[in-house]
Amino acid sequence: MTSSTHSNSIVEVFEQAAASYDRTGVSYFEPFGAALVGCAGILPGERVLDVGCGRGAVLLPAAAATGPTGHVTGIDLAPTMVKLTAEDAARAGLTQVEVRVGDAQQPSLPPHSFDVVLAGMVVFLLPEPEQALRAYGRLLRPTGRLVVSTPGAYDPAFVAAMEALGAHLPPAEQPPPAPTAGPFDDEQTITATMAAAGLDVTAISEHRVESRFQDVDHWMRWMWSHGGRALLQHLPADRLDAATTDAARVLESVRAPGGDLMLTTVGRITIAVPRPGGPAPAAAL
Ligand SMILES: C[S@@+](CC[C@H](N)C(=O)[O-])C[C@H]1O[C@@H](n2cnc3c(N)ncnc32)[C@H](O)[C@@H]1O
Repeated sequence: MTSSTHSNSIVEVFEQAAASYDRTGVSYFEPFGAALVGCAGILPGERVLDVGCGRGAVLLPAAAATGPTGHVTGIDLAPTMVKLTAEDAARAGLTQVEVRVGDAQQPSLPPHSFDVVLAGMVVFLLPEPEQALRAYGRLLRPTGRLVVSTPGAYDPAFVAAMEALGAHLPPAEQPPPAPTAGPFDDEQTITATMAAAGLDVTAISEHRVESRFQDVDHWMRWMWSHGGRALLQHLPADRLDAATTDAARVLESVRAPGGDLMLTTVGRITIAVPRPGGPAPAAAL
């Protein structure tokens, strides 16, 4: 698979999910987005870029922080995400917001034109994350900062429920084994990835989000509404009920006293600044 077909297939999943993305009554992207913007310390009047803006979980609180004297550009490759988020921003009277179709892998925007670049739950989806981070560094003013969120740890029950669904995939649709090491696995690898892209990490913090689901059907609606859709759409229609039943059995382990299913996710938020003089030589990493 080339990097552009990798990117296309991920974007196609989000394009199909756009209408319900972050709109299934589940607290997940919105609290991570609010935490990201809180960490960014955006000041009124600042110019902000939000890459992979989705339905605005980061973009909308960022616009509240810049106020009308600032400006927030949101880019996403999924046209329906862009259309719906632009409509939401217009309805909210956020004249400082512009949302357009654009590639988070290689944003074509003028260098040194932003005080803050934000990337909420997106850089790990990109085919070449290090190159993308390097591009964000070039977009920042010398005093600017990049703030990204990445998954830290998924609830073990979520992982087990995904495995229960995945067991129903036909052999040809089974995903390849997960890579043993990724660029955002832990604080050390995040710091090294940023350094290779010419960025110095100034802080990494962990944020815990609790998500409640009325029942397994609610959980499945949520799964269809985001990247989890990539797995569901490969399940044969005649396996969907059995797969859901198996996931329900696993999720019983997280039934809270009130009756809801409760999943906890830890996300990491990294703040990085452009290193004077640019990236470290590869041999130094
Ligand atoms: C997990 S969602 C995160 C959305 C939003 N930042 C949030 O926190 O809710 C990932 C988003 O990145 C977008 N995306 C994926 N690859 C992209 C790319 N190469 N360029 C621009 N957007 C991309 C998807 O369309 C989707 O809207």
